[in-house]
Amino acid sequence: MNILILGSGGREHTFCWKLAQSPQQPNVFIAPGNAGTAQLGTNLPFEPTDFEAVAAAVTTNNIDLIVVGPEAPLVAGIHDFIAAHPNLSHIPVIGPKKEAAQLEGSKAYAKAFMERHNIPTAPYKQFTADTLNQGLDYLETIPAPYVLKADGLAAGKGVLIINDLEEAKVALTDMLANKKFGAASEQVVIEGFLDGIELSCFVLTDGEGHVTFPFAKDYKRIGEGDTGLNTGGMGAVSPVPFNDAAFTQKIHERIIAPTLSGFKKDAIDFVGFVFIGLIRVGDDPFVIEYNVRMGDPETQVVLPRIENDLVDLLSATAKKQLAEVALRISSQAAATVVGVAGGYPEAYEKGKEITGVDNGLIIHAGTAVKDGKLQTNGGRVLSSTGFGTDVHEALQNAYKTLTKVSFEGMYYRTDLGFDL
Ligand code: AMP
Ligand code: GLY
Repeated sequence: MNILILGSGGREHTFCWKLAQSPQQPNVFIAPGNAGTAQLGTNLPFEPTDFEAVAAAVTTNNIDLIVVGPEAPLVAGIHDFIAAHPNLSHIPVIGPKKEAAQLEGSKAYAKAFMERHNIPTAPYKQFTADTLNQGLDYLETIPAPYVLKADGLAAGKGVLIINDLEEAKVALTDMLANKKFGAASEQVVIEGFLDGIELSCFVLTDGEGHVTFPFAKDYKRIGEGDTGLNTGGMGAVSPVPFNDAAFTQKIHERIIAPTLSGFKKDAIDFVGFVFIGLIRVGDDPFVIEYNVRMGDPETQVVLPRIENDLVDLLSATAKKQLAEVALRISSQAAATVVGVAGGYPEAYEKGKEITGVDNGLIIHAGTAVKDGKLQTNGGRVLSSTGFGTDVHEALQNAYKTLTKVSFEGMYYRTDLGFDL
């Protein structure tokens, strides 16, 4: 079987790592991939949003199945493109079509979906440049902190949480009148602040059946104690210690079930990963956001805990046979710690030589081989995944491996798990 994975991060390397364990020995192609994926398959030099290049690669390499890693090609309609292609319409794509990808591509679309299907989330209103004044008035009527969300994709930077009313008004004006996030902030969602602890839920669905993957928790802020700027993710753990049986039951009943039945009611044929960003407020789960893909770095702790053959899971999804699959989850805990380039998530340098990656499970993200040497090639460079009887032991093991890795300017958080 020939599988094409679109993307280049730690998530995609983890997919390759898991596929490499399959007794079915699939041939894996990754576009564009990184230095880690190159060791497990064939990297192809094009971006996932270059649909013509994707189609050409599918034909040339006799691809049987496409797995889409990041959101951008999904929101741009890669699934629709393949489904409408004269020669490729029979090739399954794991990842939703453009309409359903709006769950991630538009905050307003996601909020309307949740409202329609009674899925617990923060109350909200949406505004455009034409209704800026109503937006400013609305801010006066709600308590701080103010949560302002650019409607569209803004590379993880489109959410502002502001304590001061006047600052919030300036920010809203910047977003709507001055297009601070370009087209992404032509519409802004203002929503109520939810005070709690976050966790990530992943569901793989074929449009009929589904499996719920192990829950995970990621660490988004650059600084120790969850301070400083937001990042793509500085680490993750699975399972989530505070996600006890009663809380999990609520997530299934109040969130996963109505989300999947919402797809049916709205005639959305969702094939792929539903990533539900949740927050626990008191004893109740609320949805912060939907994504239409696996999380990164959550994938680095979720996939290793799944004992099923990933080829079987993907094939069952393509054939709409997931309802017959029983997921087997390891009782071992997993943790991953991300090593980033100095300066990230602001300006940083690339091209620093990396050493010490031959111990433990090192997952590559922003890495490349140049002149025969492993180099940094991104902000989030790599992560170390460790295992243990609980997440604290798993973290210790992840750190043990990561301390052997080095590159100029390398930074990682040393406090992951502090809140658990
Ligand atoms: P999002 O892109 O919607 O996931 O938002 C980014 C981050 O902002 C989330 O991971 C939360 O930490 C925070 N956030 C978003 N919405 C809210 C909210 N309504 N209340 C509190 N925090 C929020
Ligand atoms: N770790 C959060 C994300 O993948 O968006």
